[in-house]
Amino acid sequence: MQPYRIAVFASGSGSNFQAIVDQVQKGKLDVSIELLVCDRPQAFVVERATEAKVPVFAFRPKEYESREEYESLILKELQDREIDLIVMAGYMRIITNVLIVPYYGRMINIHPSLLPSFPGVKAIEQAVAYGVKQTGVTVHFVDGGLDSGPIIAQRSVEIHEHETADSLAERIHAAEHVLLPHVIRSLREGRVSIDGRRVSIRL
Ligand code: GAR
Repeated sequence: MQPYRIAVFASGSGSNFQAIVDQVQKGKLDVSIELLVCDRPQAFVVERATEAKVPVFAFRPKEYESREEYESLILKELQDREIDLIVMAGYMRIITNVLIVPYYGRMINIHPSLLPSFPGVKAIEQAVAYGVKQTGVTVHFVDGGLDSGPIIAQRSVEIHEHETADSLAERIHAAEHVLLPHVIRSLREGRVSIDGRRVSIRL
């Protein structure tokens, strides 16, 4: 099989980035992690990438006039490396058409709720505060909206009585670390097809 080259975008701790690295290192996910893109140079995910010998493109958004300006630099990095798939794993920024147009259908995001419930920031806290009994995780294609693109796969996670956002976050993250590599593997093996909003996947 041809090499399958991915770039991961992240802003924080990078536990999802690590889950992908671990699967690759164990030989369970046949992809090449070519680049980490990070909008917070001091984030822990940068250390994880360095440790895993993954090249890092880190930048400070405030140093640019517009999103389009720094996204054009990111696009060049992606094109130079012939990236097949962009994986947003805790990248806390809205993306513009600079990236969406060339990568539509080849850019996915993981979100810690059962979309379309609780989009945006603090999805875990939102679910606890609302009082839903089930929440979960979603992997979806990225479009121009806020966590609004076609849904590829979801897993539910039960919310227990007396649950706190911290206790729930542990189980949400555990679910993410399984689901995200699964979806990447399915995409890599050509087992995902998209028809408008409807996505079919064989995990
Ligand atoms: C993950 O829970 C991911 O779903 C969430 O950020 C966390 C990053 O954790 N993403 C969003 O909320 C996007 N709207 P990590 O840095 O440990 O992978």
